Amino acid sequence: MKLLLMLLLLAFVLTLVCVHAEGETSAMGKNFNPKKIEGKWYSVGLASDKREMIEEDGSMRVFVEDIHVFENSSIGFKLYTKINGVCTGLYLVCDETEKDGEYFVEYDGYNTFNMLDTDYDEYIIFHLRNVNNGETFQLMELYGREPDLSSKIKEKFAELCKKHGIVEENILDLTEADRCLQARDGGKA
Ligand SMILES: *[C@@H]1O[C@H](CO)[C@@H](O)[C@H](O)[C@H]1NC(C)=O
Repeated sequence: MKLLLMLLLLAFVLTLVCVHAEGETSAMGKNFNPKKIEGKWYSVGLASDKREMIEEDGSMRVFVEDIHVFENSSIGFKLYTKINGVCTGLYLVCDETEKDGEYFVEYDGYNTFNMLDTDYDEYIIFHLRNVNNGETFQLMELYGREPDLSSKIKEKFAELCKKHGIVEENILDLTEADRCLQARDGGKA
């Protein structure tokens, strides 16, 4: 009888541990603090189930420099994209939708995105869905506070991409690519 009680207690404790762990890895939801993602970032990883969008000259091959959160909770992204080989600045203001933690921006179609994971001072992972002329694709981005990230975080990103049905070949490591770093801080590309 005593053993049975012990087992029941153990099962209960394990359940609590599991529920807790799940809460930590699921979408950011209510405990997400947008203000803490402000500041400088680097694009480290980029993935899409429509690869051409993130290849050279793809409209979604964009590189982040800075994130700003406005009083009205819209988020401004300072980005670069290469147009005919030239690094070109791009500023997008994304408005919050009625869904918790979801944002919207018009750019080469209608985009809704949210944050899948972040620790605020090292990395952040975004998931975006684009709808354009009845067609849709997903985009996933990994940003780092530094130009490169640990392989542990990159693997975490790859796992999340695969979970969303994006195959390995469509997950790009941008650290060797021209990310328009020379254009940052108002430098001349
Ligand atoms: C929030 O403020 C920014 C900056 O003034 C503006 O660009 C954006 O359109 C505003 N968003 C909404 C939803 O009003």
